[in-house]
Amino acid sequence: MKIALIGYGKMGKEIERLALERGDEIVVTINSKSPPLSAEVAGKADVAIHNASPSSVLGHVRQWSEWRKPLVIGTTGWYNELAGVRTIIERNKTGLVYASNFSIGVNVLFSLVGHAGKLFDKLPEYDAFLHEIHHKEKLDSPSGTALTLADILVRQFRRKTEVLAGAPEGKIKPEQLHIASTRGGNVVGTHRVTFDSVADSIEITHTAKNRAGFALGALLAAAWVREKAGVFTMEDVLTDFLKTGE
Ligand SMILES: NC(=O)c1ccc[n+]([C@@H]2O[C@H](COP(=O)([O-])OP(=O)(O)OC[C@H]3O[C@@H](n4cnc5c(N)ncnc54)[C@H](OP(=O)(O)O)[C@@H]3O)[C@@H](O)[C@H]2O)c1
Repeated sequence: MKIALIGYGKMGKEIERLALERGDEIVVTINSKSPPLSAEVAGKADVAIHNASPSSVLGHVRQWSEWRKPLVIGTTGWYNELAGVRTIIERNKTGLVYASNFSIGVNVLFSLVGHAGKLFDKLPEYDAFLHEIHHKEKLDSPSGTALTLADILVRQFRRKTEVLAGAPEGKIKPEQLHIASTRGGNVVGTHRVTFDSVADSIEITHTAKNRAGFALGALLAAAWVREKAGVFTMEDVLTDFLKTGE
């Protein structure tokens, strides 16, 4: 696979490392200071993987989709522009996979939390809350992954109808699902969902040990989206992957 990397920071470099190890080729790397890319250079790539700034997503989607190139978007914090992105992709009949978290482990966590939410929904003595920790450079808060977890939970654990991120002012309302975020150090990403009652606490935690899991998932998504048209998530990729094992 011939890959263009948009964003050549922590994630871009980890994807490059893994891609080269797997025999893929990196045809171009782009950062915030790169000169505008020519259609000729872009034409050499099978797929572009974006791990850059949220504000650059829409422009890059427009450009690469006009070049008829599929995209994988790992960047988080841009989801209020999803409708605009969808319109561009559908107009150009290209493919795009986006995910707040490309790690296979986190996608298993999403399933586990959905299942747990459904069970605890029937047990009124349990309350639920979320906590996520990331390194001090992270731009968005709460993390995109925490927002995905919250979205999964409010669909299953129906006592919670509203997501409250950040420090609450006074007491939270019973229907509010609180997400707390901690920023510091070099923490790659930790997400914990807690179901808590007077008697006990059940905690489901995912701890990323490094960025390899995100990079592998992004490469699986890149290989998958080459033959597709439309907007997809990692759930679509993994559903096919678990069916075929490829
Ligand atoms: N979905 C997932 O699984 C996953 C996992 C981890 C991280 N992420 C997300 O990926 C994104 C990047 O994270 P990171 O840790 O790699 O950040 P990072 O180390 O700060 O790197 C960001 C890179 O993006 C480049 N960039 C910024 N604006 C750009 C623009 N307009 N055009 C092209 N490149 C631009 C930066 O260039 P300069 O060096 O020139 O500033 C840098 O190379 C974040 O949104 C993060 O939340 C997603």
